[in-house]
Amino acid sequence: MGGRAQVTAVASTPVATNPLAEGLHDYRVGEPCLMVIFGATGDLSGRKLLPALYNLAKQRLLPAGFAVVGAAIDDMTDDSFRKHASEKIAEFSRTQPIDQRVLDAFLSACFYVKVDFGKLDDFKGLQRRLSELDTTRHVSGNRMFYCATPPPTYETIVEQLKAAGMATGAGFHRIVVEKPFGSDLKSARELTAILQRVFHEDSVYRIDHYLGKETVQNIMAFRFANSIFEPVWNTNLIDSVQITVAEEIGVEGRGTYYDKAGALRDIVQNHALQLVALVAMEPPLAFEANSVRDEKVKVLRAIKPITDEEVARATVRGQYTKGWVQGEQVPGYRDEKNVAPGSLTETFAALRLNIDNWRWANVPFYIRAGKRMPKRITEIRIQFKRPPHMTFGPDATRELDPNAITLRIQPEEGISLRFGAKVPSAGLRIRSVTMDFQYMTAFLVETPEAYERLLLDCMIGDPTLFTRADEVEAAWRLIDPIEAAWRDDRPPLAMYAAGTWGPPAADKLVQQDRREWHRP
Ligand code: BG6
Repeated sequence: MGGRAQVTAVASTPVATNPLAEGLHDYRVGEPCLMVIFGATGDLSGRKLLPALYNLAKQRLLPAGFAVVGAAIDDMTDDSFRKHASEKIAEFSRTQPIDQRVLDAFLSACFYVKVDFGKLDDFKGLQRRLSELDTTRHVSGNRMFYCATPPPTYETIVEQLKAAGMATGAGFHRIVVEKPFGSDLKSARELTAILQRVFHEDSVYRIDHYLGKETVQNIMAFRFANSIFEPVWNTNLIDSVQITVAEEIGVEGRGTYYDKAGALRDIVQNHALQLVALVAMEPPLAFEANSVRDEKVKVLRAIKPITDEEVARATVRGQYTKGWVQGEQVPGYRDEKNVAPGSLTETFAALRLNIDNWRWANVPFYIRAGKRMPKRITEIRIQFKRPPHMTFGPDATRELDPNAITLRIQPEEGISLRFGAKVPSAGLRIRSVTMDFQYMTAFLVETPEAYERLLLDCMIGDPTLFTRADEVEAAWRLIDPIEAAWRDDRPPLAMYAAGTWGPPAADKLVQQDRREWHRP
């Protein structure tokens, strides 16, 4: 690829006085509410939720009437929970150093109740504490129940909430659950039924944290707030779309979960298919929860399920062996803790999907997701067709690649456009150059953590960035037939050394269509 033409303003002025940062403050503030975190002493709460709440507090986005109640099995008091929260915030907050004044105010709104999920009496005790806090914290009876616990606990928690009379009453009652939403279509439906027995679908907030990422939301802004891209966003000019979700990390102590899930369930069923939906959907009538989600469901349903006959040619499953990532030697997947020694679970998945509708006829969508790749990168590459007629001849255009738009989701969030430009010289040589937009240099602010946005939206009652039951089901409908064939060892598991871009079969997947993966 050729040189990079930087078009963004690179300013060195401090944010406070920089005109580019003007108007960036988000003035939406959540409704008064009491957030109960089930599993408050666990990993998700410590790494993501508590730091996100602190950062919302720092941006003055938490409602005036607000409290967090940690609910878990550990023996803790309000004070020891506050100490725990403060340590986690210090370690994981995206903004540093910690603002002690904000932290102290936030901690004074944190409380703890020991709850054994199996004991109704514990839920009744929790309810009594919440009622007291209703008065002292002015939260108007509004409740946000966050299940930061393993999915098998969801059923018990919602049933106990119902039995203790906590799921109804004055104010709103919302429940937040984390992926995975089931492990196949059947279990996803069962989970939906469990949640809907107690909560109305409008009060169920299913988190796919990718939707909270600024750059993922920007896919919609890019497509629908501009007039120049949408006319070319179809089969007439687009050759193919590539989605890469590459991680450097391995399974990070999550072997027990991951060995049952694998890359297809862990990333493709949710994060990657959400990216496909946002790239491929029709313009929604409004940026409003059901309009957006209706369009996403339509496009997910238009994806042709991969048939049993196609699965060997249209999918690749890989697993990493030991190797080197970023200069560090790492073990193979089968040597990771809590992974079966002969495990056949995939840590890399690649597929080719086709969307059976007018806009996307004959445009393949290639997806690949893997752990222990050479670098962490999530990007969407829109590859355009070559011009219908080459005016300049093969010599002049030897270094010219077709146009491409890359939406970089992370890291170095931004968008780039590749096009041909004449190389300055007496002759005529045309080479690809890149025009780059980078969030950091354009807006001079760090993008907020996905959880900040999602927690705030839940307090506000805006489910646009949460997945609806029918979306989840549509995604499983695509994944189930692939999983069935993979269980049958079709195609066979292909090994790749940690620190490479997956097995050679992944290259063949695109090469059989005379294409190449973009090397980020
Ligand atoms: C999670 C997966 O949903 O997403 C993890 O369970 C994965 O396996 C993570 O590492 C990736 O998220 P991010 O935000 O780091 O891209």
